[in-house]
Amino acid sequence: MIPQSFLQDLLNRVDIVEVVGRYVQLKKGGANFMGLCPFHNEKSPSFTVSPTKQFYHCFGCGAHGTAIGFLMEHTGLSFVEAVNDLARNIGMTVPQEGGTAGHAGPRGHAVALTDVMTRACDYYRQQLRGALSAIEYLKGRGLSGQIAAHFGLGYAPEGWQNLEAVFERYQDDTLLEAGLVIDSEKTDAQGRNRRYDRFRHRIMFPIRNTKGQVIAFGGRVLGAGEPKYLNSPETPLFSKGSELYGLFEARAAIRDAGFVLVVEGYMDVVALAQLGFPNAVATLGTACTPIHVQKLLRQTDEIVFSFDGDAAGRRAARRALEACLPHASDNRTLKFLFLPVEHDPDSFVREFGAEAFSAEIAKALPLSQFLLNEVLHDKELHQPEGRARALFEAKPLLQALPANALRAQIVHALAERVGSPLDEVTRLCGLDAGKPAWDRAPAKREKRRVQGQAHRALQNLLMYPRLGNELSADDIQVLASTSYAELFGEVLSHCREMGAQAEFRYLSDRLRDSENAASYEDLFKEILSMDENVRDLLLYDPDDALQAERAEEQWRLRLAELRAAVRKLHYDSVCDRLEQMFKRGTLSPDEMTEAAALTRQRAVLKQQLA
Ligand code: CTP
Ligand code: MN
Repeated sequence: MIPQSFLQDLLNRVDIVEVVGRYVQLKKGGANFMGLCPFHNEKSPSFTVSPTKQFYHCFGCGAHGTAIGFLMEHTGLSFVEAVNDLARNIGMTVPQEGGTAGHAGPRGHAVALTDVMTRACDYYRQQLRGALSAIEYLKGRGLSGQIAAHFGLGYAPEGWQNLEAVFERYQDDTLLEAGLVIDSEKTDAQGRNRRYDRFRHRIMFPIRNTKGQVIAFGGRVLGAGEPKYLNSPETPLFSKGSELYGLFEARAAIRDAGFVLVVEGYMDVVALAQLGFPNAVATLGTACTPIHVQKLLRQTDEIVFSFDGDAAGRRAARRALEACLPHASDNRTLKFLFLPVEHDPDSFVREFGAEAFSAEIAKALPLSQFLLNEVLHDKELHQPEGRARALFEAKPLLQALPANALRAQIVHALAERVGSPLDEVTRLCGLDAGKPAWDRAPAKREKRRVQGQAHRALQNLLMYPRLGNELSADDIQVLASTSYAELFGEVLSHCREMGAQAEFRYLSDRLRDSENAASYEDLFKEILSMDENVRDLLLYDPDDALQAERAEEQWRLRLAELRAAVRKLHYDSVCDRLEQMFKRGTLSPDEMTEAAALTRQRAVLKQQLA
């Protein structure tokens, strides 16, 4: 359990505008920042982020929360993961149960690595200015100085130990760990391994993470030579299975265009950006992974993959298809575009122009079509064997798709093409066995509409969770005997954990992980659509004395409301119990005593309620 005091400290130190701004383009408007809501499709901004309230809220779809909630909602992290992620970013250590916050630890190290990478990048960029052969090469490939600067392109000069002049300690382990140098097997006079620069006489493409920090490099030979591209190795900062070249540079353009283009090469990204397609990114000499896809889907609902027309391109497309399947929900568009055999996007646009490439994008195959082509194209569908083979190959692909309308459509089309009844295809492909195997997320319950006095009680508790700690044992007993006992139990336990610091905004983050999240979400949305004054007081700025005072007043009113609701619930349950007893007619002596007590209680409650 993470102490609430730590969480508040964390939220005070992270800048929610910065956290949200990594994913959403925000503009300042008065005290708040506004942008297009990343959680629903919209054309004009209704998504606001308040730096003083540490809260985001979309007036369109009701999405809301603190920086923790935003990360959870945007990236699918759990509460604890989101807290860890934020903490790591600002060098705080999350206290473990019973422990206290420690030193910067591995974080200090990551800083050292990014620092080293930044300095190397600056050096390579500066080297490019005087390197005629490199400039010549880039010009020859049609790149402008402006675009080269935009991507931070640089040049690693010839020579084995150029970085010796850049870093005070060339022997520092950090350089090795950052992948900038290589230790050879050969040793020098002092018995140390001879060390040399990894990148020599190459055009340098810095690879940035989504925060814009340089985490790796790709280096291309000038002209012909092997290997054509040399990349940084896997380091603590860089894992090529999850990074995409150009994503940082393309973020705004992806939002503007409404889709991202995924290509194979560094040069494709840079050239496309110059020629009117700034929304392109590239995988880094690897197959596209589900992590890549997930990362892209955080930025947009539409991905267009563009592959080179050769055999390698087709293989890459197949891998991308597989990476996409688990993410193919009905509200997303995933498309595949194949260029003529001898072309990649760079050469295609240069030869045929931007319009022709746009036309190719418009013609790209939707995922369903590509999947069907893959399983049907080389089968002899006039033979039973060919049709069976198609079903056999379709099975794992269909199983990887979520059980949604798109899958149903694909199964339909497949059944038609192989001439089998729909239910037979479904059964043969093992699609009727409920959830697909990859989907191991705990099942979220359907939302329950909380009604009546229970609604009134729960609403007040969610608005002012500190109220939970004002309830007596009897009150809690009353709530626990309603049909919403589980919801009350969960909310009250969070209230206790947060103690005196319990607040609406923190509770809303904590309940996101709950199995009952959908039920709470409705209540939260209801609360946030209340009068502006009510909302303002919920999210009051504790440094604003006047607001704090009014919030306190509001708090007392809400306490009275909550107590009244609990009393009414109690009264109703007493009445129910009495009614049950009287319906049965004859009562035992014990029951007679109980009934008498209940009758007295009913009278008292009735009086209190009046
Ligand atoms: N690649 C790599 N290592 C290699 C070759 C290729 O990492 N030895 C990766 C690079 O990311 C490269 C991509 O695969 O950008 C595509 O390779 P290729 O099609 O051979 O190169 P192009 O992108 O067309 O490069 P260029 O246009 O500069 O020749
Ligand atoms: Mn190329």
